[in-house]
Amino acid sequence: MNRKIFYLAGTLLVMTFSSCYYDVEDELYPASNCDTTDVTYRQSVVPVLKNNCYSCHSTAMANGSVVLDNYQSVKAVAADGRLLGSINHESGYIAMPQDQGKLSDCDIRKITIWIENGIQDN
Ligand code: HEC
Repeated sequence: MNRKIFYLAGTLLVMTFSSCYYDVEDELYPASNCDTTDVTYRQSVVPVLKNNCYSCHSTAMANGSVVLDNYQSVKAVAADGRLLGSINHESGYIAMPQDQGKLSDCDIRKITIWIENGIQDN
C-alpha cells in the first residue's frame, strides 16, 4: 500500500474518532443537567464530600492526614491544589476517591466553581 495514502487514512480515522468522542460526551453530559447556579460550600460541596470522602477523611479517621469534614480543613486542601488535583486524577496527585470511580463531571464542576469563586464559607 502507498505510504502516503496509508498515513492519510490513519489521520482521517483518528479525526473521525475524536470528533465522535466529543459528540457522545455532549449527549451524555448536557450542561443543563448540572445545576451550577448558586454554588455554595454547604449546598454544593459538603454533600459530595459527605457521600464520597468522609468515610476516609473525617476528623476521627484522617487518611493521609487529610480531613474533609470541616470548612477550615477543606479550605486548606482546596487552596493548596490537592483537592482538585486528586479528584481530577492529575499527575502528581493521588487519585481520589481512592479505589473508586472518578466523581461525576457535575460534582467536579461544582467543586471547581466553588474554588474559583474564592473558597468561601457560604
Ligand atoms: C477508601 C478511602 C478513601 C476515600 C473514600 C477517599 N480517600 Fe482520599 N485518601 C485516602 C488515603 C489512604 C490517602 C493517603 C494516600 C497516600 O498517602 O498514599 C488519601 C489522600 C488524599 C489526598 C491527598 C492527595 C495528595 O496527592 O496529596 C486528598 C486531597 C484526598 N485524599 C482527597 C479525597 C477526596 C476529595 C475524596 C472524596 C472525593 C477522598 N479523598 C476519598 C483514602 C481515601
